[in-house]
Amino acid sequence: MASGQLSRAEALACSGCRHACHVMLYCDTNTLLFGSIPIRHIVLPLLLPQMQMRFDGLLGFPGGFVNLSEESLEAGLGRELLEELGVAFQILEEDHVDSCFAPASSPASSTSPRLITHFYTKKMEEGQIRAVETAAVTTATDHGQEVLGMVRVPLHSTKGGGGLASFLSHSFVGNARFQLLHTLLRLHLVAPEELREALARSLK
Ligand code: APR
Ligand code: MG
Ligand code: MG
Repeated sequence: MASGQLSRAEALACSGCRHACHVMLYCDTNTLLFGSIPIRHIVLPLLLPQMQMRFDGLLGFPGGFVNLSEESLEAGLGRELLEELGVAFQILEEDHVDSCFAPASSPASSTSPRLITHFYTKKMEEGQIRAVETAAVTTATDHGQEVLGMVRVPLHSTKGGGGLASFLSHSFVGNARFQLLHTLLRLHLVAPEELREALARSLK
C-alpha cells in the first residue's frame, strides 16, 4: 500500500477527518485521431479524462467534499457529479478504488481536520460520455464557476513526443496526477513501458 493510503474501513472510522470523493469516467472508443492514430479510450477525470480544468487552474477529477453526517461517500459523490457535470450518476461501493490522506502540500490539508480523498472509476459507453461532455457545459450548475471545462486525457503519443507526455506536464490538484497514472496502469489503458516513456518525457 502506498504511503498515506487507507483501507475504506480505516478512512470511514476517522470521524474527525474531512472527506472528498472524485471519479475517473472512461470508455472504450474506436475513434481514430486524424483518421490514423487510435485514441483507444476516452478518460474523464474532472478535468474529463475526462478530467476537469478547475477554478484554480489545476487539472483534477470531477467530485468534491462529502459530508458523512448527511450522506454516504457514494451519495455525496453523486451529488457533486450532478453539480459539476449536470448528470445524475449512481456511484456504487464497488466503483471505489482507494482512499488516502491528501498530500501535506494540499491547501485543504494544511489546516486540521485532515482531508481524506476517496477515488473511484466508472466505465461508461462512449455515447454516455459524450452526453456527459454536453451536459457539463449546458446543464451543470458549476460550469464556468468551480469547473471551467472538461478535457479528455490523450492516451496516444505523437511522433514528436506529444500527447500523453504533454498532458502529464500540466499541473494537477492534490494527488490527481498519481491517481491518473495508477489508474491507467491498473485498468491496462496504457502499457507500462509507454507510460514510463511518457512520464520521462513529461519531466523534461
Ligand atoms: N487528490 C487529492 N486531493 C484532491 C483531488 C485529488 N485528486 N482532487 C481534489 N482534491 C482536493 C482539493 O484540493 C480540494 O481541497 O479535495 C478538496 C475537495 O475537492 P473539490 O473538488 O475542490 O471540492 P468541491 O466540493 O467540488 O469544491 C467546493 O471547495 O475547493 C474548494 O472553494 C473551492 O469551490 C470549491 C469548494
Ligand atoms: Mg464541487
Ligand atoms: Mg470538485
